[in-house]
Amino acid sequence: MAKKITTVFFCQECGHESSKWLGQCPACKKWNTLVEEKVQVTGSGMGGASKTAAVKEAREPVHIGAISLNNGERITTGIEELDRVLGGGIMQGSLILVGGDPGIGKSTLLLQTCRHLSLSGRRVLYISGEESLKQIKLRAMRIGEFRDDMLLLCETNLSLIEDAIRRTSPEVVIIDSIQTMYQEEVSSSPGSVSQVREATNVFLQLAKGLGISIFIVGHVTKEGTVAGPRVLEHMVDTVLYFEGDRYASYRILRGVKNRFGSTNEIGVFEMRREGLVEVENPSEYMLSGKPVGASGSVVVCSVEGTRPILIEIQALVCHTNFGIPRRQTTGTDFNRVNLLMAVLEKRLGLQIGDCDAYVNIAGGMKVNEPALDLGIIMAIVSSFKNRAVDEKTLVFGEVGLSGEVRAVTMAGQRVLEAKKLGYDTVIMPRVNLEGMEPVKGIKVIGVGGIGEAIDLI
Ligand SMILES: Nc1ncnc2c1ncn2[C@@H]1O[C@H](COP(=O)(O)OP(=O)(O)OP(=O)(O)O)[C@@H](O)[C@H]1O
Ligand SMILES: [Mg+2]
Repeated sequence: MAKKITTVFFCQECGHESSKWLGQCPACKKWNTLVEEKVQVTGSGMGGASKTAAVKEAREPVHIGAISLNNGERITTGIEELDRVLGGGIMQGSLILVGGDPGIGKSTLLLQTCRHLSLSGRRVLYISGEESLKQIKLRAMRIGEFRDDMLLLCETNLSLIEDAIRRTSPEVVIIDSIQTMYQEEVSSSPGSVSQVREATNVFLQLAKGLGISIFIVGHVTKEGTVAGPRVLEHMVDTVLYFEGDRYASYRILRGVKNRFGSTNEIGVFEMRREGLVEVENPSEYMLSGKPVGASGSVVVCSVEGTRPILIEIQALVCHTNFGIPRRQTTGTDFNRVNLLMAVLEKRLGLQIGDCDAYVNIAGGMKVNEPALDLGIIMAIVSSFKNRAVDEKTLVFGEVGLSGEVRAVTMAGQRVLEAKKLGYDTVIMPRVNLEGMEPVKGIKVIGVGGIGEAIDLI
């Protein structure tokens, strides 16, 4: 077949292909995203994704009833927080993308997963394109005891990797990272759109064809999405993001897409010398270091997936020295805070329109749940009036534009979590009180509007 090298331009955002350079991508309308790549064209078409995607043998459609499932379709990793995010373990034959900032702990987490899996007798293969065998061994020694027969491979050439996987037939494979892998036939450099797409395609075929589960590590761009084309996220079954404050030691693993489970679950870890340690009680962790008797600090309860987590909201409100007041939020929605301040001004006549306001979720967590509204309102008023909210009080509830406090989901669990952590008073939406079992030792105060809640400060 005749082979010819041509130059095409790919959009880094959406993978759109163009024969000439354009300032704006015609498909996703993003500016300056087209990059030049050399690709090989064979007689039958482009040398990109279409080649491996071609069906090698014709398959017959089958009846759904005729498909048998063997028990144990899911493999538990032994790391409870990871299992939770995956929806109860690794689905056999699935492709899982793990993204995250540099140095956040992606390789550490996956090496720990390998350790647990191999200790429970599973065959795993860890393929690294970034570190040498010695470096991996050093990290492994920090993490703990490994089984001697766990397989490691340092390789970036896709055809050699494919061979190795077929030869060793592991149950779980780790690819660290997709940006270092390359296919010889594709002439662009590793990490480019066509290489990443091609590599993912190879792993997709392997995972579905051989029924093995493959974890792929992906680097993230400045904007915080996995580098490479968006199609990458469409191709895989599950996308997990590892996030966390660079300066805090805890890390949060969040599911962004999951074909086999909920995406609301999070896993909380702490980075220590011996690797990532699961945090069993995130609430306690988030509240450590909370100031005593300070104004502007309110504890709220947010629900992540099925788990209630207590977090501290801090607000600082002071008169502005400039014409336009400054508003800033960390960890929560900026526009939501502006809206809540407008509600306070209009409904309660609070003169905060000419005040600077800073709202912060302590601990570096990012939460956008409406149940935080009442807590944000109380923190702002507490700071404005310089009066502290009682330390043993927990607040939650959604606030509407007329200043009404609206119902939230899972109110009962939130109250139970408050009790578990030694709180004695809960301020919550009155509508949620109906039919709720009283909890011993907790005084529950139902409020219908923000005015009632503010009076309690
Ligand atoms: N001895 C140690 N004690 C405590 N923490 C450590 C130690 N060694 C490494 N770390 C932590 O491990 C992190 C590196 O983890 P890891 O290499 O798994 O990250 P990564 O996400 O794979 O990074 P990259 O994107 O560079 O591959 C460091 O940022 C550091 O926080
Ligand atoms: Mg790494």
